[in-house]
Amino acid sequence: MSKPRFFPTRGHLMLCQNTSCKQRGADLLHLALTRALEQEHLMYYKSGGSIRYTTSGCLGACSYGPVMACYRQTPQGIEEGWYFGVTFPLAMKVARAVQQEDELPVEHRFNQG
Ligand code: FES
Repeated sequence: MSKPRFFPTRGHLMLCQNTSCKQRGADLLHLALTRALEQEHLMYYKSGGSIRYTTSGCLGACSYGPVMACYRQTPQGIEEGWYFGVTFPLAMKVARAVQQEDELPVEHRFNQG
């Protein structure tokens, strides 16, 4: 078996697609986000892209969906960004911050402060 190609990334975004988050629009958000990440060449498999975006099962904050988690490596270690009530503009803001290695947005962030 040949070795699979590895795509280096700057961060991993996971959007919950379990029942409660879907009832709050996470399924439509997933479709819109996938399309936009591809169109803006932010997805890791597009030239210049560095975002690994996947869906996930329940992230354990069902009453606050849609919930999205973001992990990335920083010089200080792994940084986590956990977001509740995620909208399309907020998800894109997080993705662009990861791509540009900027600070993660603080709005709707669980573990801020
Ligand atoms: S259903 Fe999305 S966090 Fe539990």
